[in-house]
Amino acid sequence: MSKLKAAVFASGAGSNFQAIIEARDLACEIVLLICDKQNAGVIEIAKKHQISTFVFNAKEFASKQAYEEKIISELRKKEVSWIFLAGYMRIVGSTLLQAFPGKIVNIHPSLLPNFPGKDAIAQAYQAGVNKTGVTVHYIDEGIDTGPIIAQESVAVFSKDTEEALKKKIQEVEHQLYPSVINQLLQTK
Ligand code: GAR
Repeated sequence: MSKLKAAVFASGAGSNFQAIIEARDLACEIVLLICDKQNAGVIEIAKKHQISTFVFNAKEFASKQAYEEKIISELRKKEVSWIFLAGYMRIVGSTLLQAFPGKIVNIHPSLLPNFPGKDAIAQAYQAGVNKTGVTVHYIDEGIDTGPIIAQESVAVFSKDTEEALKKKIQEVEHQLYPSVINQLLQTK
């Protein structure tokens, strides 16, 4: 039986994208990278692994609905059934949400509902918490508010720099995301 097809959406360096595509025994095939930044490092990773990319500039479209309709047509061409956001720094709109109900998942570098939005690691570090972590959750129309699927905590020690904390969180992300993807696909 052929594997389900999935797309990853990303805007940045792509370390989570890389962890997903290099995961052993991933239960789906990543057939497309969607990226909204022309120079994002994640694009090079996709090229190296011969994964198709759709890179767009939101400013060239009249509206969020317009670029999301274009994204949907790219996803349909590749027969994508699941979407994994991995550092995609845009709010997903109702056009995409309605096209893929219950099939869009995000990873966020904090224990939601704490520290939603941008720079979650810096927010937690500056708040001086002794525990933060990683959340994988379904997307809804809010910012990092959808139903939580899995969380893993990361201790913050007083000797930790913000950079060290980021490294610890990303290591957890790179293990957690592929394993949650596999659990989700096996139960659906
Ligand atoms: C990851 O830490 C991810 O959790 C975060 O962006 C980073 C992307 O890194 N996402 C968010 O903050 C979403 N609100 P990467 O490009 O190296 O995977």
